[in-house]
Amino acid sequence: MVSIIIPTFNEKINVIKIVDRIKTAIDNIYDYEIIFVDDSSDNTIEYLEKLKNMYKNIKYSHRTGERGLATAVVSGIDMSRGDIIVVMDSDLQHPPELLPEMIKNIEEYDIVIPSRHLTGGDEDGLNIFRKIISHTASAIGKLFLKKLRNISDPTGGFFAFKKKILDGIVLSPVGWKILMEILVRGKYSKVKEIPYKFEKRDYGNSKMSFIEQINYLKHIFRLVKDSVDDRRIFVFAIVGCLGVIVNMIFYNIFVFCGFNISISGTFSAVIAMIGNFILNRNITWKDKKTEKFFAEAFKFLTISSCGIIINIIILSSLHYKLKVNYNVANLIGICGAVLWNYNLNRLWTWKNNLRSF
Ligand code: GDD
Ligand code: MN
Repeated sequence: MVSIIIPTFNEKINVIKIVDRIKTAIDNIYDYEIIFVDDSSDNTIEYLEKLKNMYKNIKYSHRTGERGLATAVVSGIDMSRGDIIVVMDSDLQHPPELLPEMIKNIEEYDIVIPSRHLTGGDEDGLNIFRKIISHTASAIGKLFLKKLRNISDPTGGFFAFKKKILDGIVLSPVGWKILMEILVRGKYSKVKEIPYKFEKRDYGNSKMSFIEQINYLKHIFRLVKDSVDDRRIFVFAIVGCLGVIVNMIFYNIFVFCGFNISISGTFSAVIAMIGNFILNRNITWKDKKTEKFFAEAFKFLTISSCGIIINIIILSSLHYKLKVNYNVANLIGICGAVLWNYNLNRLWTWKNNLRSF
């Protein structure tokens, strides 16, 4: 059975129209139910009540005092009886005529995403300003969240999935992007995108707002925090900063004890590197560490030593050849070394990549 979940906020007549078009598209082909999750502050609920009385496969819930597209979808999933879930907007910008193709593909795939960005698709239903925001948002999402990278349209609100990909998963989205939440937290392997035309809204207004754009960033932050692979580089950078502090403290202790500056600098650097190794092994790559402590230490220290050389090469070429300010040059050098250290440790020291995603 297919459960079609439709979040609504002040949509009035649109709910009648969408039901009509869904019926024309899939009545007599699929067994389905339509679940509206309504947060409206107008009389949309009267239209929903009418629909519910007319059709036995339509139900709705009305939340008072709560808003949010993504949480509305989560509560719709909780109410659903189907093993296949479809999520779509109620304003007909997502054409119901695509449902048969989506549902057919879900037999083979875990998630099916109609995409505005494949050849044959388009997003002309958005104005230029919204298009720019939408592309920027998608790019930011892909930068921080690995699982969005192969998806051309990870921020839309139109998609289908097998409900079982959420077994044992707790969804906790912020704002609008429920698809992004499912792509990051769900347990799935096969995703299919199909092109579609994002239509213009005929009736009513978009509810997208600046607050929702801030919520999107909060949502990304939460997903990065909860995803081992996505947060790793940030944990690595924090460990690196701690290393600098450790280095400075020991450096001062050694100087205070009367050692000369080069000896103090060498010892404090070695101590900081060992400290960083232990922290990275037990925190950053906790899920990848092996029994071979010394082999890992050897690799880590070799990589870090090369990192220092890389830092120096970048720093001196920027400063001496390109006349970049010496502090800026050092900062860029440090970034280069961090990227080198991170990636080499990822690919060599802690490479036992048993997890598929
Ligand atoms: N229950 C509920 N609660 N529904 C809401 C809420 C809310 O707080 N806010 C919006 N909705 C419903 C609307 O009634 C509509 O059915 C759907 O969510 C999408 O809202 P629109 O206001 O039509 O959004 P849009 O057209 O600007 O945004 C579209 O494009 C985005 C891509 O850039 C949507 O398709 C988004 O899902 C999509 O991310
Ligand atoms: Mn819309």
